[in-house]
Amino acid sequence: MAEPVSIAVTGAAGQIGYALLFRIASGAMLGPDQPVELKLLEIPPAMDALQGVVMELDDCAFPLLVNAVATDQPEVAFEGVDLAMLVGSMPRGPGMERNDLLEANGKIFTVQGKALNDHASRQVKTLVVGNPANTNCLIAQNNAPDLDPNNFTAMTKLDHNRATAQLALKVACAVDDIQGLSIWGNHSSTMFPDLLNASVSGTPAMQAVDQAWYENEFIPAIQQRGAAIIAARGLSSAASAANAAVEHMREWVTGTSSVTSMGIYSSGAYGISEGLIFSYPVTTKDGAHTIVEGLTIDDFAHAKIKATEQELMDERDAVAHLL
Ligand code: NAD
Ligand code: LMR
Repeated sequence: MAEPVSIAVTGAAGQIGYALLFRIASGAMLGPDQPVELKLLEIPPAMDALQGVVMELDDCAFPLLVNAVATDQPEVAFEGVDLAMLVGSMPRGPGMERNDLLEANGKIFTVQGKALNDHASRQVKTLVVGNPANTNCLIAQNNAPDLDPNNFTAMTKLDHNRATAQLALKVACAVDDIQGLSIWGNHSSTMFPDLLNASVSGTPAMQAVDQAWYENEFIPAIQQRGAAIIAARGLSSAASAANAAVEHMREWVTGTSSVTSMGIYSSGAYGISEGLIFSYPVTTKDGAHTIVEGLTIDDFAHAKIKATEQELMDERDAVAHLL
């Protein structure tokens, strides 16, 4: 058997945590031959609930789960971890934008960034799920100066999956027939779901749909899908978010077979302000992500990408005191 991979999950007693931990422990994230150790972080009032989750993990008798630690101390949760999945933070309610959560959630990521910096593996791969995910990730990354900025990522895989599913429904194809689709920018209502570089069974996606549907229906539906789930469920997405987190980490660790979307540290590619955590079309191999180069950016796409970049720059200004 391989050495266990040590994985921290924050907010482990929350609704995404409940949909996520059992899939990690079953091998759905890192494969059927990879043992895992879980380090579960919560705040003190949620520790009883977290103990109940650990009891249920025990009760599954997962062969791959070698240990599950429950703690309210970030330095314990992050000690030596190889992967960190930062979910713990407040979700938005109806009528809120995700960046309305910055005040409440931003400071969580200063503490956790510092704890990762001081205690995690030097190669720790960090995924931020808690909203606003890009800017929370920016905060964590800035508070972890000893770690590689390329190892801090924010989740836009859920948006990627939503866009794939909606296009598949529209053109009546299988999701696997769709290639090259991606999400640019912020996990927010300014994100840009890009079909200009996508194909359906090898044919450009924009030949299968019309521009009016793309601009007036598809893009707003993906941008507003999180709010639509909240309106319908009375709670924000959880199972689909956990699924996207599993896929994000699996693809990062084991590699992609096609283009995916990840919020990553910008070093200026496609003219984006350096240092932002910006969602790009990427591929992954050997544990590293690479931005897809040479994509078509027409005037429409350029305006959308600049708008979402501007929002991320405004969010960065708003949290300057946390960086
Ligand atoms: P939830 O309220 O059910 O659970 C959050 C958990 O985090 C709670 O158990 C809470 O006690 C815990 N927590 C709060 N502060 C913490 C801290 N400092 N350290 C550790 N744990 C802490 O919320 P949820 O539905 O699981 O959502 C969690 C976050 O994920 C929200 O911010 C939500 O908006 C976000 N989200 C992001 C995406 C995405 O695509 N990026 C998708 C869905 C949800
Ligand atoms: C989502 O996209 O479902 C999450 O970010 C939750 C939300 O607030 O929309």
